[in-house]
Amino acid sequence: MKIAMVGSGYVGLVSGACFADFGHDVVCIDKDARKIEALHDGVMPIYEPGLDGLVESNVAAGRLSFTTNLAEGIEDAAAIFIAVGTPSRRGDGHADLTFVHEVAREVGENLSSEAVIVTKSTVPVGTGDEVERIIRDTGTPHRFAVVSNPEFLREGAAIGDFKRPDRIVIGAEDEFGQEVMREVYRPLYLNESPILFTSRRTSELIKYAGNAFLATKITFINEMADLCEKVGANVQDVARGIGMDNRIGAKFLNAGPGYGGSCFPKDTLALLKTAEDYDSPTRIVEAVVKTNESRKRAMGRKVLDALGGAEAARGKKAALLGLTFKPNTDDMRDSPSIAIAQTLGDAGVKVSAFDPEGMELAAPLMPEVDMCADPYAAIDSADVVVIVTEWDEFRALDLGRVIELAKQPVLVDLRNIYTPEDVRARGFTYASVGRV
Ligand code: UDX
Repeated sequence: MKIAMVGSGYVGLVSGACFADFGHDVVCIDKDARKIEALHDGVMPIYEPGLDGLVESNVAAGRLSFTTNLAEGIEDAAAIFIAVGTPSRRGDGHADLTFVHEVAREVGENLSSEAVIVTKSTVPVGTGDEVERIIRDTGTPHRFAVVSNPEFLREGAAIGDFKRPDRIVIGAEDEFGQEVMREVYRPLYLNESPILFTSRRTSELIKYAGNAFLATKITFINEMADLCEKVGANVQDVARGIGMDNRIGAKFLNAGPGYGGSCFPKDTLALLKTAEDYDSPTRIVEAVVKTNESRKRAMGRKVLDALGGAEAARGKKAALLGLTFKPNTDDMRDSPSIAIAQTLGDAGVKVSAFDPEGMELAAPLMPEVDMCADPYAAIDSADVVVIVTEWDEFRALDLGRVIELAKQPVLVDLRNIYTPEDVRARGFTYASVGRV
């Protein structure tokens, strides 16, 4: 089966490479000529574990190719995926659908045979209807259906998530759309991955509802963490205790500095906009968005506290370990580290930092921060060491060396990756999240 993937960014490229690995013939299309050229040379535009190998082997097998030419790329494709970006629109937080609409028009104008057009981009409810209208208005003589098929890929684990999904959601309005999508996902169907067929609008909402729920879960445990610190309880045990109840579930209950990334912040805002437009307020999500936003600067203040308060902190040095919004990615979008670095900078604290993958993208976002070649260079003469992102290499720091290099043995662990008793026994003053 031939599949065209329009948009070779994070979602498009991972999905395209995985579909090719299933045995489909996949053409990834992007109007960014430099990106396509780089892909021809085997250079990935993003960092995602395993992606380069997957792309290389499928290109070698002749199942995966890249082009800037949409008309050529979609020729004879049975399924044409739209996987272009839907950033937050400046000013109002609505998802910006300019690219989705542009692609829909171009696809309609260039259809060479019947096809199913699938929106993989995260799009507000009703976008499928609009895409269908746009394609119909091009006057194409070919039969087509517009289907919604949201992605649920976590950065850093995207290939695993694609190949072993908890579920696949397909929103299709007719039998033609369903039938082609069944064929697209046949390899996963044979693996017994559950496929949920819904209406198109329902499928579009599932994506937002899912991400808003997960953002709520994280924000809930973060507030419980604050309460734990006040009442002298341990948030990890609270998470375990409630997570063992199957109705709650153990996942996404790790307290931390607040969620970031390309999805939760953007999707929760877009859901609020949709709710407002339909006059159906979602108060819980409103509170989640506000609480998470203020948490990021609060984490900066937590570091100031560890330095003896805002007054005492002036002129001191903080070393930030980890800058990306989570490990195994170079993505800096809405990372808590940005607000933390700002809060520290505002208080006159000098900041040094190290991140295994994120420094290039981080540097322009925090120009005052001194980016270092390794964690120990960042820690050198620091008054406080802050773990912001739980990269594996920070789990086993040489604590003896940290004590030698740092001016003060103060550790603020915003991801709870160390055991308080252990680090205190090594001579550290230690603060973490939701544990005393
Ligand atoms: C998310 C969704 O998980 C995925 O299904 C969706 O399609 C895209 O958005 P992603 O943004 O890559 O994926 O990362 P995820 O692992 O979900 O983490 C998001 C943020 O929440 C990170 O900042 C992470 O540190 C934070 N988080 C996650 C917590 O603070 N605690 C947790 O228990 C889990």
